[in-house]
Amino acid sequence: MLNIALPKGRLGDKAYEAFAAAGYACPGFSEENRKLIHENTDAGIRFFLVKPSDVAIYVEHGAADAGVVGKDILLETEPDVYELIDLKIGKCRLAVAALNNYTENKGAVLRVATKFMRIAQKFYASRSREAEIIKLNGSIELAPILGLSDVIVDIVESGNTLRENDLKEIETITQISARFIANRSSFIFKSDALTALADKLREVNAL
Ligand code: PRP
Repeated sequence: MLNIALPKGRLGDKAYEAFAAAGYACPGFSEENRKLIHENTDAGIRFFLVKPSDVAIYVEHGAADAGVVGKDILLETEPDVYELIDLKIGKCRLAVAALNNYTENKGAVLRVATKFMRIAQKFYASRSREAEIIKLNGSIELAPILGLSDVIVDIVESGNTLRENDLKEIETITQISARFIANRSSFIFKSDALTALADKLREVNAL
């Protein structure tokens, strides 16, 4: 049996569609219910739904053999896992944004609000730009509006949240998409099952 951690929500639903198309459908998965575990014993697969930022934790510790996680979370947490496939779903970007009328004061320490501490720190270090990184957990766009920060580092998908809050994208840091990751031991001890699954996902992905 392969244990797969999926992120609860829209990305998890999309990822499940890829698994179903690859021949790993589970009865009842798409129905409206609060079940966190779904399995298909014939296909040898069990999905469980976790908070998106917890997927890599389950996989790294071996509680899941594999999982689906955004590249943003992999860059931020650098878990010790194999990154096997770019699933090309959940596409968005990590970007720097600020108020529409913002101009940078290059002589001052830049105040940056973000959920992505490590990514922001690395980005500004690579620029040799002195920055104070302020950790927030959500609604990051409020920070420059309320004067908490000069800029934000956040996920941009459609750009609607920025536009509706009078913010502009200043710079793209990196493109993001969902990745299929595997636990390092599972990749050895469940190699046949994981390789078969990964191959079928690649086929579906190439369509
Ligand atoms: C993410 C991100 C932006 C928004 C971007 O927020 O932090 O706020 O989506 O999407 P858009 O460009 O399509 O408008 P999320 O919904 O994950 O909530 P949170 O960060 O506030 O928790």
